[in-house]
Amino acid sequence: MKIRAMKHHDFYESLPRRARYNLSDACGATATLQDILSTDEIAAVASVPLIYGSVEGRDDLRAGIYSLYQKLYPELSSDNITVLSGTEEGLFSIMACILEPEDEVIGMLPCYPSLSDLPACFGAVFKPVELKFENRWQPSIEDFSAQINERTKAIVINSPHNPTGMLLDQSFIDSLIALCQRHDLYLISDDVFAFSDFANIGSQLNVLKYEKAILANVLSKTFGLPGVRIGWVMTRDEELSKSIRDLKTYNSICQSQLDEQVACFVMQKADALIKRNNKIVRENIELFDDFIANNDFLSWHKPEAGMLGLVHSTKPLKPLLESWFEKEVLVLPGELFGIEGDYFRVGFGKREFSEALACITG
Ligand SMILES: Cc1ncc(COP(=O)(O)O)c(C=O)c1O
Repeated sequence: MKIRAMKHHDFYESLPRRARYNLSDACGATATLQDILSTDEIAAVASVPLIYGSVEGRDDLRAGIYSLYQKLYPELSSDNITVLSGTEEGLFSIMACILEPEDEVIGMLPCYPSLSDLPACFGAVFKPVELKFENRWQPSIEDFSAQINERTKAIVINSPHNPTGMLLDQSFIDSLIALCQRHDLYLISDDVFAFSDFANIGSQLNVLKYEKAILANVLSKTFGLPGVRIGWVMTRDEELSKSIRDLKTYNSICQSQLDEQVACFVMQKADALIKRNNKIVRENIELFDDFIANNDFLSWHKPEAGMLGLVHSTKPLKPLLESWFEKEVLVLPGELFGIEGDYFRVGFGKREFSEALACITG
């Protein structure tokens, strides 16, 4: 296996120091246990036996996660869910279980670097479908179809999208499923922003109607809890579920029992947390839209859902981002996500967004 370092991690390492604000952060509002749990709940976490847990994840945690999906998938159950250490472990496990050397995976570019770079770790090849500013970042089915050949094993999607904030709609997903069915492909859906529906337009897509689809989600993004390493994958493909669980017995074996207990409580208050964090995203996007209106060298397509957006600058990017770094604001260039040109990514999840913006305003 050839492991490639993830581009944005290398980029962080290359910086001379940390900036006070990361305006490109991809997570929801930062919280502590005290912010999200009651005193009794914190006491319950403190009394959890520190033993091995089950490979697939605690039953009540998987039931809590399933309640996020019950409306969309009433015919499924918590048995279709496996708990893992973040979506990152989910994506790695899915690809490890389905890919053979020389297989091909089709996905959108720009994208979260894992999606484009993980296939190569297994000797497979990533075939990009390029998203373009002039198309409002929307791909076409023909773009996906044109990349299919006899070596294609899977299509990977991410909607709402990192880094553009683009949202695929259900009719697009239905066409993609038909394409996958025709060519017997897996459909991998990186769903980490699915609950960041800040404009209430319905960003949760039905991908699991397809037998060979699998979705991955996590507490890191909408819930703003990346330090609780709880993510999950969900599929109706029992063989794939079994392979992922078998692989986990060689990796983490089970989750931290503390994390699982915290995640159980998070699921009990999921609606309120989602609502709270989506409000922050909505307000920050409006602030940033005003910032763009006041800076005519910047342009974008306002994100439809999720918590990220990709911005174009007619001023050269490098000196612009360096000048912002001098003002304690770090912004990630689009090239880290596989797009050339003067683009940068902005993240809208943080409470301190307006403070960060104030540093570079004027
Ligand atoms: C689209 C996407 N997928 C997956 C991940 C991985 O997140 P985690 O490992 O916290 O699950 C990220 C993190 O930024 C992401 O943006």
